[in-house]
Amino acid sequence: MRAAQLEGDVVRLEFADGTRGALHVLALRDGCPCSECRHPVSGQRLFESLQVLPAAAAVSARVTGEGSLELDWSDAHHSSFPAAWVRGEATAAARGRRPARNVQLWGAELGDSLPEHLWPKVAEDDRARASWLRDVARLGFAVLHGVPLEPGFVEPVTGLFGAVRETNYGRVFDVAVSVGATNLADTALPLSPHTDNPYREPTPTVQLLHCLASEVEGGHTVLVDGFAAVERLRRGAPSRLATLAGEPIRFAYRDESADLEADVPVVSLDAHGDVVALHLNNRSKGVPHGDPAGVASWYDAYLGLVALIEHAELQVVFRLEPGDLIVFDNLRVLHGRTGFASTGTRRLQGCYADRDGVLSTLAVLEREAMR
Ligand code: OGA
Ligand code: ZN
Ligand code: ZN
Repeated sequence: MRAAQLEGDVVRLEFADGTRGALHVLALRDGCPCSECRHPVSGQRLFESLQVLPAAAAVSARVTGEGSLELDWSDAHHSSFPAAWVRGEATAAARGRRPARNVQLWGAELGDSLPEHLWPKVAEDDRARASWLRDVARLGFAVLHGVPLEPGFVEPVTGLFGAVRETNYGRVFDVAVSVGATNLADTALPLSPHTDNPYREPTPTVQLLHCLASEVEGGHTVLVDGFAAVERLRRGAPSRLATLAGEPIRFAYRDESADLEADVPVVSLDAHGDVVALHLNNRSKGVPHGDPAGVASWYDAYLGLVALIEHAELQVVFRLEPGDLIVFDNLRVLHGRTGFASTGTRRLQGCYADRDGVLSTLAVLEREAMR
Protein backbone atom coordinates (compact mmCIF):
# COMPACT_ATOMS: atom_id res chain seq x y z
CA MET A 1 0.00 0.00 0.00
CA ARG A 2 1.27 3.41 -0.93
CA ALA A 3 -1.10 5.89 0.67
CA ALA A 4 -4.19 6.22 2.84
CA GLN A 5 -6.36 9.25 3.30
CA LEU A 6 -9.25 9.78 5.68
CA GLU A 7 -12.26 11.44 4.05
CA GLY A 8 -15.11 11.67 6.52
CA ASP A 9 -16.08 8.07 7.31
CA VAL A 10 -14.15 6.57 4.42
CA VAL A 11 -10.47 5.60 4.20
CA ARG A 12 -9.29 5.99 0.60
CA LEU A 13 -6.41 3.69 -0.30
CA GLU A 14 -3.85 3.65 -3.04
CA PHE A 15 -1.87 0.46 -3.65
CA ALA A 16 1.64 0.11 -5.05
CA ASP A 17 0.27 -1.15 -8.39
CA GLY A 18 -1.84 1.99 -8.76
CA THR A 19 -5.21 0.44 -7.90
CA ARG A 20 -7.43 2.29 -5.50
CA GLY A 21 -9.81 1.15 -2.82
CA ALA A 22 -12.16 2.51 -0.19
CA LEU A 23 -13.10 1.12 3.21
CA HIS A 24 -15.67 2.44 5.66
CA VAL A 25 -14.32 3.27 9.12
CA LEU A 26 -17.02 1.19 10.85
CA ALA A 27 -15.78 -2.00 9.18
CA LEU A 28 -12.23 -1.01 10.13
CA ARG A 29 -13.08 -0.33 13.78
CA ASP A 30 -15.09 -3.56 13.88
CA GLY A 31 -12.18 -5.43 12.29
CA CYS A 32 -9.44 -4.04 14.55
CA PRO A 33 -7.05 -6.95 15.18
CA CYS A 34 -5.35 -5.55 18.31
CA SER A 35 -5.12 -7.68 21.45
CA GLU A 36 -7.65 -5.47 23.26
CA CYS A 37 -10.20 -6.10 20.51
CA ARG A 38 -9.51 -9.73 19.58
CA HIS A 39 -8.54 -12.83 21.47
CA PRO A 40 -4.97 -13.53 20.42
CA VAL A 41 -5.52 -17.27 19.79
CA SER A 42 -9.06 -17.64 18.44
CA GLY A 43 -9.41 -14.14 17.00
CA GLN A 44 -12.78 -13.84 18.73
CA ARG A 45 -13.99 -10.28 19.23
CA LEU A 46 -13.70 -9.07 22.80
CA PHE A 47 -15.95 -5.99 22.62
CA GLU A 48 -19.70 -5.64 22.07
CA SER A 49 -20.81 -3.75 18.95
CA LEU A 50 -23.08 -1.34 20.82
CA GLN A 51 -20.33 -0.33 23.23
CA VAL A 52 -17.85 0.67 20.55
CA LEU A 53 -19.29 1.22 17.09
CA PRO A 54 -21.95 3.97 17.54
CA ALA A 55 -19.28 6.40 18.79
CA ALA A 56 -16.40 5.20 16.60
CA ALA A 57 -14.71 8.09 14.80
CA ALA A 58 -11.35 7.94 13.07
CA VAL A 59 -9.10 10.97 13.42
CA SER A 60 -6.16 9.99 11.23
CA ALA A 61 -4.99 7.37 8.74
CA ARG A 62 -1.51 6.63 7.42
CA VAL A 63 0.58 3.89 5.87
CA THR A 64 3.82 2.60 7.44
CA GLY A 65 7.00 1.58 5.67
CA GLU A 66 5.87 -2.08 5.72
CA GLY A 67 2.61 -1.10 4.09
CA SER A 68 0.31 -1.63 7.06
CA LEU A 69 -2.59 0.77 7.61
CA GLU A 70 -2.55 2.73 10.89
CA LEU A 71 -5.68 4.38 12.23
CA ASP A 72 -6.11 6.59 15.29
CA TRP A 73 -9.54 6.88 16.84
CA SER A 74 -11.14 9.76 18.75
CA ASP A 75 -11.15 7.73 22.00
CA ALA A 76 -7.34 7.27 21.72
CA HIS A 77 -7.66 3.69 20.48
CA HIS A 78 -5.11 2.74 17.83
CA SER A 79 -5.51 0.12 15.08
CA SER A 80 -2.85 -1.41 12.87
CA PHE A 81 -4.04 -3.49 9.89
CA PRO A 82 -1.62 -5.78 8.02
CA ALA A 83 -1.19 -4.86 4.33
CA ALA A 84 -2.48 -8.24 3.09
CA TRP A 85 -5.67 -7.93 5.13
CA VAL A 86 -6.36 -4.41 3.85
CA ARG A 87 -5.75 -5.55 0.28
CA GLY A 88 -8.18 -8.45 0.71
CA GLU A 89 -10.87 -6.20 2.17
CA ALA A 90 -10.41 -3.55 -0.53
CA THR A 91 -10.66 -6.19 -3.27
CA ALA A 92 -13.82 -7.68 -1.74
CA ALA A 93 -15.28 -4.17 -1.38
CA ALA A 94 -14.56 -3.34 -5.03
CA ARG A 95 -16.02 -6.62 -6.31
CA GLY A 96 -18.93 -6.59 -3.93
CA ARG A 97 -18.05 -10.12 -2.79
CA ARG A 98 -15.47 -12.20 -1.01
CA PRO A 99 -13.50 -14.81 -2.94
CA ALA A 100 -15.43 -18.02 -3.53
CA ARG A 101 -14.17 -21.44 -2.44
CA ASN A 102 -12.18 -23.32 -5.04
CA VAL A 103 -14.85 -25.35 -6.84
CA GLN A 104 -14.22 -27.19 -10.10
CA LEU A 105 -17.28 -28.26 -12.08
CA TRP A 106 -17.16 -31.59 -13.92
CA GLY A 107 -19.06 -33.88 -16.24
CA ALA A 108 -18.72 -37.42 -17.59
CA GLU A 109 -15.05 -36.80 -18.54
CA LEU A 110 -14.09 -37.02 -14.88
CA GLY A 111 -14.84 -40.75 -15.15
CA ASP A 112 -11.44 -41.13 -16.88
CA SER A 113 -9.59 -39.64 -13.92
CA LEU A 114 -11.60 -40.28 -10.80
CA PRO A 115 -10.31 -38.62 -7.63
CA GLU A 116 -9.01 -41.86 -6.08
CA HIS A 117 -7.18 -42.23 -2.77
CA LEU A 118 -5.98 -45.06 -0.55
CA TRP A 119 -7.31 -45.69 2.94
CA PRO A 120 -4.02 -46.69 4.57
CA LYS A 121 -2.34 -43.55 3.21
CA VAL A 122 -5.03 -41.06 4.20
CA ALA A 123 -5.21 -42.65 7.65
CA GLU A 124 -1.48 -42.30 8.30
CA ASP A 125 -0.18 -39.42 6.29
CA ASP A 126 -1.27 -35.79 6.68
CA ARG A 127 -0.40 -34.88 3.11
CA ALA A 128 -2.42 -37.78 1.70
CA ARG A 129 -5.31 -36.87 3.95
CA ALA A 130 -5.18 -33.23 2.82
CA SER A 131 -5.12 -34.30 -0.82
CA TRP A 132 -8.19 -36.51 -0.27
CA LEU A 133 -10.13 -33.75 1.48
CA ARG A 134 -9.03 -31.19 -1.13
CA ASP A 135 -10.71 -33.34 -3.78
CA VAL A 136 -13.89 -33.56 -1.69
CA ALA A 137 -13.89 -29.77 -1.31
CA ARG A 138 -13.07 -28.97 -4.95
CA LEU A 139 -14.91 -31.71 -6.87
CA GLY A 140 -17.55 -32.54 -4.29
CA PHE A 141 -16.48 -36.18 -3.91
CA ALA A 142 -13.59 -38.62 -3.72
CA VAL A 143 -13.23 -42.40 -3.84
CA LEU A 144 -11.22 -44.27 -1.21
CA HIS A 145 -9.90 -47.76 -1.94
CA GLY A 146 -8.63 -50.33 0.52
CA VAL A 147 -11.01 -49.53 3.36
CA PRO A 148 -11.24 -52.51 5.75
CA LEU A 149 -14.30 -54.70 5.13
CA GLU A 150 -15.48 -54.27 8.69
CA PRO A 151 -19.08 -53.31 9.30
CA GLY A 152 -19.20 -49.89 10.96
CA PHE A 153 -15.92 -48.76 9.43
CA VAL A 154 -17.51 -45.63 7.93
CA GLU A 155 -17.34 -44.22 11.46
CA PRO A 156 -13.54 -44.20 11.80
CA VAL A 157 -13.26 -42.92 8.21
CA THR A 158 -15.55 -40.02 9.13
CA GLY A 159 -13.43 -39.46 12.22
CA LEU A 160 -10.54 -38.47 9.95
CA PHE A 161 -12.30 -35.20 9.16
CA GLY A 162 -15.34 -34.74 11.34
CA ALA A 163 -18.20 -36.24 13.29
CA VAL A 164 -20.93 -38.67 12.35
CA ARG A 165 -24.34 -37.03 12.08
CA GLU A 166 -26.74 -39.49 13.68
CA THR A 167 -30.29 -39.58 12.29
CA ASN A 168 -33.41 -41.74 12.66
CA TYR A 169 -31.59 -44.21 10.37
CA GLY A 170 -28.95 -44.61 13.10
CA ARG A 171 -25.33 -43.53 13.33
CA VAL A 172 -24.55 -45.88 10.47
CA PHE A 173 -27.19 -47.18 8.08
CA ASP A 174 -27.27 -50.23 5.85
CA VAL A 175 -28.16 -50.21 2.17
CA ALA A 176 -28.96 -53.84 1.40
CA VAL A 177 -31.80 -55.75 -0.13
CA SER A 178 -34.29 -56.50 2.58
CA VAL A 179 -37.77 -57.95 2.54
CA GLY A 180 -40.42 -55.39 3.54
CA ALA A 181 -38.13 -52.43 2.97
CA THR A 182 -39.77 -49.05 3.66
CA ASN A 183 -37.03 -47.19 1.80
CA LEU A 184 -36.55 -47.93 -1.89
CA ALA A 185 -32.79 -47.81 -1.29
CA ASP A 186 -33.13 -51.24 0.35
CA THR A 187 -34.49 -52.92 -2.76
CA ALA A 188 -32.71 -53.94 -5.97
CA LEU A 189 -34.42 -51.14 -7.93
CA PRO A 190 -32.42 -48.44 -9.65
CA LEU A 191 -32.19 -45.11 -7.84
CA SER A 192 -32.18 -42.00 -10.01
CA PRO A 193 -29.55 -39.40 -9.08
CA HIS A 194 -30.62 -37.62 -5.94
CA THR A 195 -29.49 -35.84 -2.84
CA ASP A 196 -30.26 -37.62 0.43
CA ASN A 197 -32.62 -36.46 3.14
CA PRO A 198 -33.96 -33.21 1.64
CA TYR A 199 -36.76 -33.63 4.21
CA ARG A 200 -34.33 -33.07 7.07
CA GLU A 201 -33.53 -29.69 8.61
CA PRO A 202 -30.71 -29.02 8.26
CA THR A 203 -29.96 -31.48 5.49
CA PRO A 204 -26.70 -33.37 6.10
CA THR A 205 -24.06 -31.78 3.90
CA VAL A 206 -21.74 -34.79 3.58
CA GLN A 207 -22.45 -38.46 3.03
CA LEU A 208 -20.24 -41.54 3.06
CA LEU A 209 -21.04 -44.85 1.40
CA HIS A 210 -18.82 -47.87 2.07
CA CYS A 211 -19.09 -51.01 -0.06
CA LEU A 212 -18.87 -54.23 1.96
CA ALA A 213 -20.14 -56.65 -0.69
CA SER A 214 -21.10 -56.41 -4.33
CA GLU A 215 -21.64 -59.87 -5.78
CA VAL A 216 -24.54 -58.74 -7.95
CA GLU A 217 -24.88 -57.91 -11.64
CA GLY A 218 -25.24 -54.15 -12.04
CA GLY A 219 -25.61 -51.81 -9.10
CA HIS A 220 -23.27 -49.23 -10.65
CA THR A 221 -22.85 -45.93 -8.86
CA VAL A 222 -23.85 -42.80 -10.78
CA LEU A 223 -22.60 -39.38 -9.69
CA VAL A 224 -23.61 -36.03 -11.15
CA ASP A 225 -22.20 -32.61 -10.35
CA GLY A 226 -25.43 -30.80 -9.49
CA PHE A 227 -23.67 -27.43 -9.63
CA ALA A 228 -22.58 -28.16 -13.22
CA ALA A 229 -26.17 -29.13 -14.11
CA VAL A 230 -27.43 -25.84 -12.64
CA GLU A 231 -24.87 -23.87 -14.67
CA ARG A 232 -26.13 -25.61 -17.82
CA LEU A 233 -29.70 -24.79 -16.89
CA ARG A 234 -28.69 -21.16 -16.29
CA ARG A 235 -27.03 -20.94 -19.73
CA GLY A 236 -29.91 -22.58 -21.58
CA ALA A 237 -32.89 -21.24 -19.68
CA PRO A 238 -32.18 -18.67 -16.93
CA SER A 239 -35.88 -18.23 -16.23
CA ARG A 240 -36.19 -21.94 -15.42
CA LEU A 241 -33.45 -21.54 -12.84
CA ALA A 242 -35.22 -18.55 -11.30
CA THR A 243 -38.45 -20.55 -11.13
CA LEU A 244 -36.81 -23.49 -9.34
CA ALA A 245 -34.94 -21.25 -6.93
CA GLY A 246 -38.06 -19.27 -6.07
CA GLU A 247 -40.43 -22.11 -5.21
CA PRO A 248 -40.06 -24.13 -2.01
CA ILE A 249 -41.15 -27.74 -2.36
CA ARG A 250 -42.24 -29.92 0.52
CA PHE A 251 -40.08 -33.02 0.91
CA ALA A 252 -41.24 -35.69 3.33
CA TYR A 253 -40.38 -39.11 4.73
CA ARG A 254 -42.35 -41.15 7.20
CA ASP A 255 -42.23 -44.59 8.70
CA GLU A 256 -43.29 -46.09 12.06
CA SER A 257 -40.91 -43.95 14.08
CA ALA A 258 -40.19 -40.90 11.92
CA ASP A 259 -42.23 -38.08 10.41
CA LEU A 260 -39.93 -35.68 8.62
CA GLU A 261 -40.85 -32.68 6.48
CA ALA A 262 -39.01 -29.68 5.10
CA ASP A 263 -39.87 -26.93 2.62
CA VAL A 264 -36.93 -26.04 0.44
CA PRO A 265 -36.39 -25.07 -3.20
CA VAL A 266 -34.79 -27.64 -5.51
CA VAL A 267 -32.01 -25.13 -6.20
CA SER A 268 -30.79 -22.69 -3.56
CA LEU A 269 -29.00 -19.57 -4.80
CA ASP A 270 -27.08 -17.04 -2.73
CA ALA A 271 -27.54 -13.26 -2.89
CA HIS A 272 -25.26 -13.14 -5.97
CA GLY A 273 -27.32 -15.77 -7.78
CA ASP A 274 -24.62 -18.44 -7.34
CA VAL A 275 -25.79 -21.97 -6.63
CA VAL A 276 -25.16 -23.11 -3.05
CA ALA A 277 -27.30 -26.25 -2.74
CA LEU A 278 -29.55 -28.74 -4.46
CA HIS A 279 -32.35 -30.67 -2.80
CA LEU A 280 -33.51 -33.15 -5.39
CA ASN A 281 -34.99 -36.54 -4.66
CA ASN A 282 -37.70 -38.18 -6.72
CA ARG A 283 -38.74 -40.46 -3.86
CA SER A 284 -39.42 -37.85 -1.23
CA LYS A 285 -40.39 -34.84 -3.33
CA GLY A 286 -43.84 -33.35 -2.83
CA VAL A 287 -45.76 -31.52 -5.54
CA PRO A 288 -45.64 -27.79 -6.21
CA HIS A 289 -48.47 -25.60 -4.97
CA GLY A 290 -49.85 -22.36 -6.36
CA ASP A 291 -51.85 -21.35 -9.38
CA PRO A 292 -51.94 -23.71 -12.39
CA ALA A 293 -49.75 -21.46 -14.56
CA GLY A 294 -47.11 -21.36 -11.81
CA VAL A 295 -47.28 -25.13 -11.42
CA ALA A 296 -46.86 -25.55 -15.19
CA SER A 297 -43.76 -23.39 -15.25
CA TRP A 298 -42.34 -25.18 -12.20
CA TYR A 299 -42.67 -28.55 -13.97
CA ASP A 300 -41.14 -27.12 -17.13
CA ALA A 301 -38.14 -25.97 -15.06
CA TYR A 302 -37.89 -29.12 -12.94
CA LEU A 303 -38.12 -31.51 -15.85
CA GLY A 304 -35.50 -29.43 -17.65
CA LEU A 305 -33.09 -29.85 -14.74
CA VAL A 306 -33.86 -33.56 -14.32
CA ALA A 307 -33.23 -34.12 -18.05
CA LEU A 308 -29.81 -32.48 -17.65
CA ILE A 309 -29.03 -34.67 -14.64
CA GLU A 310 -30.09 -37.81 -16.50
CA HIS A 311 -27.95 -36.90 -19.50
CA ALA A 312 -24.94 -39.19 -19.98
CA GLU A 313 -22.69 -36.15 -20.59
CA LEU A 314 -22.98 -35.16 -16.96
CA GLN A 315 -22.83 -38.62 -15.36
CA VAL A 316 -19.80 -40.35 -13.92
CA VAL A 317 -20.54 -44.08 -13.66
CA PHE A 318 -18.37 -46.63 -11.87
CA ARG A 319 -18.76 -49.66 -9.68
CA LEU A 320 -18.08 -49.60 -6.01
CA GLU A 321 -16.15 -52.77 -5.17
CA PRO A 322 -15.74 -54.18 -1.67
CA GLY A 323 -13.34 -51.91 0.22
CA ASP A 324 -14.33 -48.81 -1.75
CA LEU A 325 -15.83 -45.83 0.01
CA ILE A 326 -17.14 -42.59 -1.46
CA VAL A 327 -17.38 -39.33 0.43
CA PHE A 328 -19.50 -36.72 -1.27
CA ASP A 329 -21.05 -33.33 -0.76
CA ASN A 330 -24.74 -34.10 -0.40
CA LEU A 331 -25.86 -30.59 -1.35
CA ARG A 332 -23.83 -30.59 -4.55
CA VAL A 333 -23.18 -34.08 -5.93
CA LEU A 334 -26.22 -36.19 -6.76
CA HIS A 335 -25.78 -39.92 -6.37
CA GLY A 336 -27.75 -42.84 -7.74
CA ARG A 337 -27.31 -46.43 -8.75
CA THR A 338 -28.36 -48.66 -11.56
CA GLY A 339 -30.63 -51.58 -10.73
CA PHE A 340 -29.20 -54.99 -10.02
CA ALA A 341 -30.16 -58.63 -9.97
CA SER A 342 -30.76 -59.43 -6.35
CA THR A 343 -29.51 -63.00 -6.32
CA GLY A 344 -26.06 -62.23 -4.87
CA THR A 345 -25.31 -60.01 -1.90
CA ARG A 346 -24.87 -56.27 -2.23
CA ARG A 347 -24.22 -54.43 0.96
CA LEU A 348 -23.28 -50.82 1.53
CA GLN A 349 -23.06 -48.96 4.78
CA GLY A 350 -23.34 -45.22 5.00
CA CYS A 351 -23.41 -42.34 7.39
CA TYR A 352 -23.88 -38.61 7.28
CA ALA A 353 -21.44 -35.95 8.35
CA ASP A 354 -20.91 -32.27 7.60
CA ARG A 355 -18.99 -30.09 5.20
CA ASP A 356 -17.59 -27.85 7.93
CA GLY A 357 -15.56 -30.81 9.21
CA VAL A 358 -14.08 -31.41 5.76
CA LEU A 359 -13.19 -27.74 5.25
CA SER A 360 -11.85 -27.17 8.75
CA THR A 361 -9.69 -30.30 8.77
CA LEU A 362 -8.35 -29.41 5.34
CA ALA A 363 -7.61 -25.82 6.40
CA VAL A 364 -5.74 -26.98 9.51
CA LEU A 365 -3.70 -29.54 7.52
CA GLU A 366 -2.83 -26.88 4.92
CA ARG A 367 -1.91 -24.39 7.64
CA GLU A 368 0.38 -26.93 9.28
CA ALA A 369 1.99 -27.83 5.95
CA MET A 370 2.90 -24.13 5.45
CA ARG A 371 4.86 -23.97 8.72
C1 OGA B 1 -29.30 -44.43 -0.83
C2 OGA B 1 -28.51 -44.62 -2.01
C3 OGA B 1 -26.94 -45.87 -3.26
C4 OGA B 1 -26.62 -47.29 -3.65
O1 OGA B 1 -29.36 -45.36 -0.03
O2 OGA B 1 -29.86 -43.32 -0.66
O3 OGA B 1 -28.42 -43.69 -2.75
O4 OGA B 1 -25.65 -47.43 -4.38
N1 OGA B 1 -27.89 -45.77 -2.22
O5 OGA B 1 -27.30 -48.20 -3.22
ZN1 ZN C 1 -8.33 -2.64 18.76
ZN1 ZN D 1 -29.04 -41.87 -1.55
